Amino acid sequence: MGVERRLRVKAGLQEYPIYLGTELLIKTGEILKKEGLAGKVLVVTNPRVSGLYLDSLLKGLEQEGFSQQVVVIPDGEKYKRLDQVEKVYDTAVSFRLERSSVMVALGGGVIGDLTGLAAATYLRGVKFVQIPTTLLAQVDSSIGGKVAVNHRAGKNLIGAFYQPSVVITDLKVLNTLEEREFKTGLAEIIKAGLIGDQALYEYLLTQSAAVKGRSTEALLEIIEKSCLFKAQVVEEDIFEMGRRAILNYGHTIGHALEAETNYTLYRHGEAVAIGMVGAVLISQELRLCQPKVREQTLALLELYDLPQKLPGISVEKIIARMALDKKVKNGKLRLILTTGIGEAVLKDDLQLEMIARILCQMGASRGG
Ligand SMILES: NC(=O)c1ccc[n+]([C@@H]2O[C@H](COP(=O)([O-])OP(=O)(O)OC[C@H]3O[C@@H](n4cnc5c(N)ncnc54)[C@H](O)[C@@H]3O)[C@@H](O)[C@H]2O)c1
Repeated sequence: MGVERRLRVKAGLQEYPIYLGTELLIKTGEILKKEGLAGKVLVVTNPRVSGLYLDSLLKGLEQEGFSQQVVVIPDGEKYKRLDQVEKVYDTAVSFRLERSSVMVALGGGVIGDLTGLAAATYLRGVKFVQIPTTLLAQVDSSIGGKVAVNHRAGKNLIGAFYQPSVVITDLKVLNTLEEREFKTGLAEIIKAGLIGDQALYEYLLTQSAAVKGRSTEALLEIIEKSCLFKAQVVEEDIFEMGRRAILNYGHTIGHALEAETNYTLYRHGEAVAIGMVGAVLISQELRLCQPKVREQTLALLELYDLPQKLPGISVEKIIARMALDKKVKNGKLRLILTTGIGEAVLKDDLQLEMIARILCQMGASRGG
């Protein structure tokens, strides 16, 4: 018997469910029907995920009488671009997709973001269903309605806010995820614990063996808590005008590090882990939090084998990247910091020199 829980995300006038559990893929057709979706279904996926899970999904859709088509996008972040969205449009045209039809994203954040943009724009919007298959996609990218593709000038430059009709999160698909991909998702869950949910922090601390062993019970617990946290923040600020910024904890330094190393050295979650170390050190420097919070943060990252040090790259270049990210104004830096476990605060008057000093303590170098 599978397990199943149901969460709800409110996004303005829209409200949609997250089905969370096991053995859900095969029930996709049943779930879509229950949620009032009907007609044609266009599934977007990549070769890796389709090899593992497409048959099961298609069988589940077929059982409930959905007619279906599949578009396969090559695997990788570099294919999160407009010409691949066009490929989705081409199939949608030949399949005669209608406004009431459904586009299903079966894959990680790359497939989810790209399919979401196609769904938001084709016929000015068709129904969109997320079936996230990475841990990162399950706790982060499938919730909140941000959809996008990259442009050669930068990541996620072409996008929209477009909420799915339903999210189907099957924990069993995580069994085939590579360890490094699993850990990148864990970093986002750790972030949720550190800035939004003390009980999640405690769980991660005390149940690390079960979490690392990917036990169903542990996954259910941490994914549910993380989704609830993200859903609650999104509900308060759908279009990212204010509170939603706290989700960027660890991300400003993390993004700068990812970009400065050409997106080749670090997975996103690893860079965010290093960014969270920077954020807690700065918080302590400013006496926003007790030294204990720094110790707790470092210990948790250590427990999950996530990196904490910057490589010997130029501190000036990292700060220049943050400025590009529009995080520097009038010589002052804006960052999300912490005041305690489960809490976050936005500060926009941070001295660049102090930040540079902390980044050097973490391993960055002066000059160059
Ligand atoms: N929209 C948002 O709010 C949001 C938030 C965070 C990240 N993102 C985006 O998400 C993307 C990163 O997502 P990601 O980390 O999921 O990367 P990804 O989609 O590239 O997936 C990582 C790898 O795992 C493979 N994979 C996926 N599911 C698998 C499974 N069950 N078993 C085995 N292998 C599997 C994929 O084929 C890929 O090779 C980035 O483009 C980022 O910009 C978006």
